[in-house]
Amino acid sequence: MAKTIDPCTLVLFGASGNLSRVKLMPGLFRLDAAGRLPEHMAILSVGRSPVERDAWLADIKGMLDAKFKNGYDQKVFERFVARNHYFANASDDPDAYKKMAATLTDANTFPQNLAYFLSVRPTDFAPVVEQLSGVGLLDESKYWRRVLIEKPFGTDLATAQDLQARLTKHLKETQIYRIDHYLGKTAVQGIMLTRFANAIFEPLWNKDHIDHVQITNNEILGVGERTTFYDATGALRDMFQSHLLQTLALTAMEKPKDLKPESIRAEKIKLLQSIRPIDVKNLNKQAFRAQYAAGRVCVGDGHGENVAGYLDELKRDGIESSNTETYAAVKLFIDNPRWQGVPFYVRTAKRMHEGNVAISVKFKKSPMQLVDSQHQNWLVISIQPKETVKLEIESKIPGLDIATRTLSIDAPQRQTGDESIDSYETLMLNLMEGDPSQYLHISEVEAQWKLVDPIVKAWTADKSALHQYRAGDRDPKESGVIFDAEDQFWRYSIELGGDKH
Ligand code: BG6
Repeated sequence: MAKTIDPCTLVLFGASGNLSRVKLMPGLFRLDAAGRLPEHMAILSVGRSPVERDAWLADIKGMLDAKFKNGYDQKVFERFVARNHYFANASDDPDAYKKMAATLTDANTFPQNLAYFLSVRPTDFAPVVEQLSGVGLLDESKYWRRVLIEKPFGTDLATAQDLQARLTKHLKETQIYRIDHYLGKTAVQGIMLTRFANAIFEPLWNKDHIDHVQITNNEILGVGERTTFYDATGALRDMFQSHLLQTLALTAMEKPKDLKPESIRAEKIKLLQSIRPIDVKNLNKQAFRAQYAAGRVCVGDGHGENVAGYLDELKRDGIESSNTETYAAVKLFIDNPRWQGVPFYVRTAKRMHEGNVAISVKFKKSPMQLVDSQHQNWLVISIQPKETVKLEIESKIPGLDIATRTLSIDAPQRQTGDESIDSYETLMLNLMEGDPSQYLHISEVEAQWKLVDPIVKAWTADKSALHQYRAGDRDPKESGVIFDAEDQFWRYSIELGGDKH
């Protein structure tokens, strides 16, 4: 059921940036078209350069035209542009924030509950909050004021805590919305429901029945234009620290006592804090990293494209050498009664043979090995590109002999006519509703950095050349070093997994 949203103004910092053009503006438009924005709701886009309102509205039209190639409703468009305004926040104007505050006092145009979306450089998060506070724009004595902080929240535990300290001088925890856009994905939200809304899974969801769990986030894309950012970040900090650990938390947490934001967060926090710290002395058996070399990737319709290696892409942008990983695989254990001894193999990579985000659960051998051909069962919760839950079971091959083969029961989550919603739409709506359940609590961010920091430190200190994998290949076979048993191996696709391929 739709929650009510108070009249409010969304103040969008970084409005002319890529995220805003491709996701946020089109997302807000779709929310408007779906009737989910309150009648009294305005959008104030904040950018560095001076732009007249008419020119900005024309720019917005361009963003929508680019996104909705099949057109859109003109009435909704008129309503949407009427909500939109622009404010030039010149970096060399010491009074820019005072002027912003003055602009926002026009309560007829700008409802006074204010949600700030900071789609700016991470180094600007704290300065923007300090400025807003300085001119009274975070004061909640009459209206609510919320601040959405984009990823990454710090680059390690110390910087995350430093940012937190700077923010909490001006904001209460309830005002801070730390984003991880994976939490806005329908299929990620579905993990919890699959587990807890089906009586058949919960009794099996533990160390007695599960051999191991794989959390995968593979992309066909390379680092693209983001060489400088990526080289300073790496797969571990870019993906593992945030999206993958959140996916793991939802997969492994205990049942929340209800669906209130604080109850869900409490269980995720508990889970993240119970992941066993990395044994850095034995890191080589627990974590593996690599970099993509030149190769050929699939670009859809079965077509291939030759692509450059990571080091060559860096050279093109003036970076001569690098030990930054584009492939990271880590084995984790969760020290609680449910999961004692069950390995969680978590991996992420760019330039793989296939793009997929999935949770693959391999069950233990069945108590009776009836035939040699018998495989272990898998349950795959696929998040991307397909949203599906897939259970692989063994079944008799019809005929005179006793032999089994693997059949799969597939339950696509998305059916014809279902709404297709981008994660940012859900998250912006939650921000305006005041629902932080799909946002990160600081304790989650801290637990995630605590786990990742020692690996980053050890990898940074180790200057030996990284293993190279060919772009478009499957996992480097050397990554298998992290597996605990001979019969454990990467499931390379959601389609087939029952055997080692
Ligand atoms: C971002 C990372 O957070 O997530 C990118 O910085 C990555 O490197 C992206 O490509 C993946 O998001 P999605 O929604 O396309 O799976």
